[in-house]
Amino acid sequence: RSAAVPRVLITDNLSPAGLEKLEAAGGIEVVVKSGLTPEQLREELKSADGIIIRSGTKLTPAALEGQTRLKAVARAGVGVDNIDLPAATKAGVVVMNTPSGNTVSTAEQALALMFALSRNTAPAAQSMNEGKWDRKKYTGTQLAGKTIGVVGLGRIGQAVARRCVALEMDVIGYDPFLSSDRAKELGVELVRDVDQLVPRVDYLTVHTPLTDETRGLINAERMKAMKKGVRLINCARGGIIDEAALAAALRDGTVGGAALDVFVEEPPPADSPLHGCPNLLMTPHLGASTEEAQELVALEAAEIMSNFLKTGE
Ligand code: MLT
Repeated sequence: RSAAVPRVLITDNLSPAGLEKLEAAGGIEVVVKSGLTPEQLREELKSADGIIIRSGTKLTPAALEGQTRLKAVARAGVGVDNIDLPAATKAGVVVMNTPSGNTVSTAEQALALMFALSRNTAPAAQSMNEGKWDRKKYTGTQLAGKTIGVVGLGRIGQAVARRCVALEMDVIGYDPFLSSDRAKELGVELVRDVDQLVPRVDYLTVHTPLTDETRGLINAERMKAMKKGVRLINCARGGIIDEAALAAALRDGTVGGAALDVFVEEPPPADSPLHGCPNLLMTPHLGASTEEAQELVALEAAEIMSNFLKTGE
């Protein structure tokens, strides 16, 4: 192998379209290795110019420290929270993501969970699996005419907001960076403080990254300020809605239902307060798990990686 041929390591399950694109780009050696231990990953990175990952691979300081050949990481997905950014910067490694490929799929997952919460779909299906026919117990509520708060109006939040407007819901949005003109175009009432939205909503969905500002954004105090029976949805990152506070609020009925696709620890540990909570619907981080989204993010990741390795930008 010529030392001049850049080598790209793929350590998570990337859609085949991405691999094909990378191979078709030519002049790149593609190496697929999944299930690496942290030590094996560190070793493999020594001979890689680039790495493409999803959320499974953790690029920790220990993995990145002292890597001299590695130039770029492409995250096939949005969140880069599995990459230690200071360590990457220190090692001179550029971090790229694919911000748009899974927008629609993640928005659709938020909607699927909202529908499921409003119609008790999961427990009703479960009861039929148990041989029951309990129509009264699972009476639901209609979405049209209800108010939803969308916290975070980036790509995914906006896609959710637009769809909720189409469902004839009243949409209140909070996003410190969204212009009032854009909010108007979307049909969203924009508030400048999350506390202005909290007491008014029947549903609340979060679509922010996890940062020091958003960790625990929806906390016990805010849950108490909500309408009794409010329903909460998190398809963004675990911890934006405080898990312990949510478990307590579901148990005492302050929160009437919640759907979580993401968790502080994934999967949630056996002693998580969430296990056994009433009216809680949990799914294993499936927002971006559609054929379409995975193909799009894989293609995008392959493209940005091959461009970067060939042109340096
Ligand atoms: C993302 O950040 O793109 C999503 O959470 C999906 C994923 O982790 O694969």
